[in-house]
Amino acid sequence: MPSRKAATVHLFHLIFIIATVQYCSGDKPARVGCYFESWAVRNEGKGRYTIDDIPGHLCTHVYYSFVGVNNVTWRLRELDPKVDLKMNGFRNFTSLKLKYPELKTMVSVGGWAEGGHNYSQLVSRKERRDTFIDSVVGNDLHSFMNSLYLKIYGHDEQTLVLAEFMHEFGFDGLDLDWEYPGARERDGKPSDKDNFLYLVEELRRRFDEEDSDWELTMAVPLTRPKLKDGYHVPELCRIANAINVMAYDMRGIWNGFADVHSPLYKRPHDTRALEEVNVNDGLQLWVDMGCPTDKLVVGVPFYGHTYVLSPNDTSYELGAPIDKNATIRGMSYYQICQALQANNSEWVEQWDEFGLCPYAYKDDIWVGYENPKSIQIKMDFIKEKGYAGAMMWALGSDDFRGLCGPTNPLVTILHNNMKDYIVPTAKNLTVWVSSETTKISKRELC
Ligand SMILES: *[C@@H]1O[C@H](CO)[C@@H](O)[C@H](O)[C@H]1NC(C)=O
Ligand SMILES: *[C@@H]1O[C@H](CO)[C@@H](O)[C@H](O)[C@H]1NC(C)=O
Ligand SMILES: *[C@@H]1O[C@H](CO)[C@@H](O)[C@H](O)[C@H]1NC(C)=O
Ligand SMILES: *[C@@H]1O[C@H](CO)[C@@H](O)[C@H](O)[C@H]1NC(C)=O
Ligand SMILES: *[C@@H]1O[C@H](CO)[C@@H](O)[C@H](O)[C@H]1NC(C)=O
Ligand SMILES: *[C@@H]1O[C@H](CO)[C@@H](O)[C@H](O)[C@H]1NC(C)=O
Ligand SMILES: *[C@@H]1O[C@H](CO)[C@@H](O)[C@H](O)[C@H]1NC(C)=O
Repeated sequence: MPSRKAATVHLFHLIFIIATVQYCSGDKPARVGCYFESWAVRNEGKGRYTIDDIPGHLCTHVYYSFVGVNNVTWRLRELDPKVDLKMNGFRNFTSLKLKYPELKTMVSVGGWAEGGHNYSQLVSRKERRDTFIDSVVGNDLHSFMNSLYLKIYGHDEQTLVLAEFMHEFGFDGLDLDWEYPGARERDGKPSDKDNFLYLVEELRRRFDEEDSDWELTMAVPLTRPKLKDGYHVPELCRIANAINVMAYDMRGIWNGFADVHSPLYKRPHDTRALEEVNVNDGLQLWVDMGCPTDKLVVGVPFYGHTYVLSPNDTSYELGAPIDKNATIRGMSYYQICQALQANNSEWVEQWDEFGLCPYAYKDDIWVGYENPKSIQIKMDFIKEKGYAGAMMWALGSDDFRGLCGPTNPLVTILHNNMKDYIVPTAKNLTVWVSSETTKISKRELC
């Protein structure tokens, strides 16, 4: 804990603090970040979600998910050439601005399925980061090299290389979704933490040279080990326009029991490693580690984690034992609302009184999710805490066809709550300043 002695301000600290005060700027409108899963275009039936379905009037930012990185050329690469390019996915997406002039169209690089290996390798060398950044921002030499590359290798679906990505397709920003720097179980290594910051700093510099309106954001976890291993919090928060905190998937089949996955607060059954893994504590951790509240965007899931309960137990309570071997697909909100509403529905809906999320069950199936009530509570929480807004995963899971009532009920709640909310400038910015003697002191700024 900070002692009087540790609070002594060294010259080093002063320089650091002055540099930090710059991001204590004026109040600004709240964000509604909407993630679009490009693969939903390929779904059939009621789950098919196209770019035309995006309710651009309800979002401030839309995120095209995902693009990847080529681990031979170290350039940005499309992950689904058919949807992204042949079907004009990128261009249709950025053209949403014609219909919704206020909307920012972002592209997200990474995602869970992309793994961490390629990103760890990418950031580990300056030349690779330079190449990657060139492929995002573009320069003449690389456009030339790119056309040469295409001449030599042609472009089959694996190797198609994209030049000057941002200019070419007209995106307004890049969202980094590497899951996660420094995470061993995701092929990360300790040096990822520094190297990721270098990438972010270098990207920001090039963005500012090119077009100062381009945004740089990132999707991030909220557990202490992940933050410690991969994220220089004060620096990243200073550089990024927004930090999209993935405040979901906090519980799953790997835990061995049924539970909601985005509890707002700690519940009695949360012990040990899970004790502070909830929305409130995870966001607070970002703040405590030095991120201003007005940069933090709180994520909400539009889908549920589904479980098959253990045949050896009769409990339907939170924490009920599950059959860990059984695999079952998650459910989108539009599927859950239909199941609950069906005539003679046998689904029973319950409420986590501490986590403030709904769950439901029928026979041996159990699902933990979010509904209008729980999402409204989270919106009140965001405003009360002064966070920068809300984001969601993902648009295609909302009841976008209005199968249960009005269309897009969940994203509408985000919009209605955020449209008149002005994000207060982070007043009580807490920065951890490490001194040369490795003592840590905590200072309040702004
Ligand atoms: C890494 O990049 C290579 C080449 O671009 C790609 O084939 C591979 O799928 C990527 N790795 C992962 C885990 O996605
Ligand atoms: C590229 O990624 C693939 C798949 O993740 C991996 O097997 C291969 O070793 C990687 N190559 C390089 C040069 O990193
Ligand atoms: C892009 O728009 C065109 C014209 O409306 C449409 O045919 C195509 O399917 C769209 N592509 C995607 C990926 O939504
Ligand atoms: C149920 O109990 C039996 C006998 O103890 C055990 O073999 C089996 O693995 C259990 N099943 C589950 C899903 O826990
Ligand atoms: C799970 O699968 C393993 C391997 O297939 C099997 O040995 C075990 O009994 C199964 N457990 C349950 C609870 O069904
Ligand atoms: C449910 O029952 C009502 C009244 O019997 C009927 O009007 C309605 O069409 C039914 N809905 C469905 C989805 O079957
Ligand atoms: C700042 O912190 C002080 C003490 O911790 C508290 O009393 C005050 O309400 C806070 N102000 C804001 C704007 O959060």
